[in-house]
Amino acid sequence: MSAALKTDSFDVAAIRNDFPILSQTVHGKKFVYLDSGASAQKPRAVIDAMVHVMEAQYANVHRGLHWMSERTSDAYEAVRDKTAKFLNAAGRDEIIFTRNATESINLIAYTYGRASLQPGDAIVVSEMEHHANIVPWQMLRDSHGVELRIVKITDAGEVDFASLEEKFADGKVKLLAVTHMSNVLGTYTPVERLAKFAHQRGAKILLDGCQAVVHRQVDVQAIDADFYVFSGHKLYGPTGIGVLYAKREILEAMPPFLGGGDMISSVTYERSSWAKPPYRFEAGTPAIIETIGLGAAIDYVEAIGFPAIAVHERALTDHALAVLSNIGGLHILGSAQDRGGVISFTMDDVHAHDIATLLDRQGIAVRAGHHCAEPLMGRLGVTSTARASFGVYTTMEDIDALAAGLLRVKQVFA
Ligand code: ALA
Repeated sequence: MSAALKTDSFDVAAIRNDFPILSQTVHGKKFVYLDSGASAQKPRAVIDAMVHVMEAQYANVHRGLHWMSERTSDAYEAVRDKTAKFLNAAGRDEIIFTRNATESINLIAYTYGRASLQPGDAIVVSEMEHHANIVPWQMLRDSHGVELRIVKITDAGEVDFASLEEKFADGKVKLLAVTHMSNVLGTYTPVERLAKFAHQRGAKILLDGCQAVVHRQVDVQAIDADFYVFSGHKLYGPTGIGVLYAKREILEAMPPFLGGGDMISSVTYERSSWAKPPYRFEAGTPAIIETIGLGAAIDYVEAIGFPAIAVHERALTDHALAVLSNIGGLHILGSAQDRGGVISFTMDDVHAHDIATLLDRQGIAVRAGHHCAEPLMGRLGVTSTARASFGVYTTMEDIDALAAGLLRVKQVFA
């Protein structure tokens, strides 16, 4: 085993033991899970935390004056503190719990977008965005008259700063909304530079951190991000819980998203007034159990530590790029300098869906399709790709199994 995969702080074999699902077989073969970019598997600690809250500590939050509700509220709110620390937010009230990153971006578009952007203002997104960072802005464009501009990426799959200059040239751009790590190309974007660029031109910056937050320590204050979003389920947590970080002064000026219980200060039949952030943006009973699961997931990755996770990811990515490059007729998309554990590829004369289906027969799970980034497929000149994406439990052997599996796919189609 490579030294990078077994150090004092990182032992991939021990980590794999934390994930019950990984010991399964699929189609009679060892289960090789290379689809963590779509959703990560769950460690025992997350599963146990969610079971524990239901067995021992469950009631609605913020509503009851009884002992059990107070315990559950404390556990729920402790995850807000933990998440604030995880992102190095300036305060706990800058963390809003949502269902997922998609809902976080929709919330921003619906509230900040409508209240703070004027018809004629422009929003810039990049050519490598997930649909979740395109469609809400198209909806805002169509309802509110803002303009949506698309900044080009280079052939390597990096943000093209000459194109960015051009998009900002008329001074109309008020928001730059970009991914921190492409879910297709694995590119890490230079977030500090992008934030500085936007701020110097009077715009705010929103970062889609769904992929990045799994692999890198994120410091929203160091980045100077105005908005940062991610989903719990890609971070080894449960589905149904997402995070929206925004600077306090921005949240304070934002009107609510959904109306209902918990988000109000007072209600009469004539009018209602709003609670302060973060509660203003959390209408109704929240995803209590899932939020507590997210807290356990944050504890889990922090116990491993991002320096060790980064070394592991680098080793896996380098190995994957090397072995996949040796397969004739296989084309890796993107060649960014700073790229991580998400690798998309095509194979001559084999459709991506056939690649995924034949790999599945060998117990290997990859994603195939447009990866919710259809416009990027057009930019890359393909209709779909196959994609392998890595997690803390991924091994060199998994990558070798992928390479061997792809050679078999080639033979079948020869
Ligand atoms: N956004 C997820 C992916 O890239 C679902 O697969």
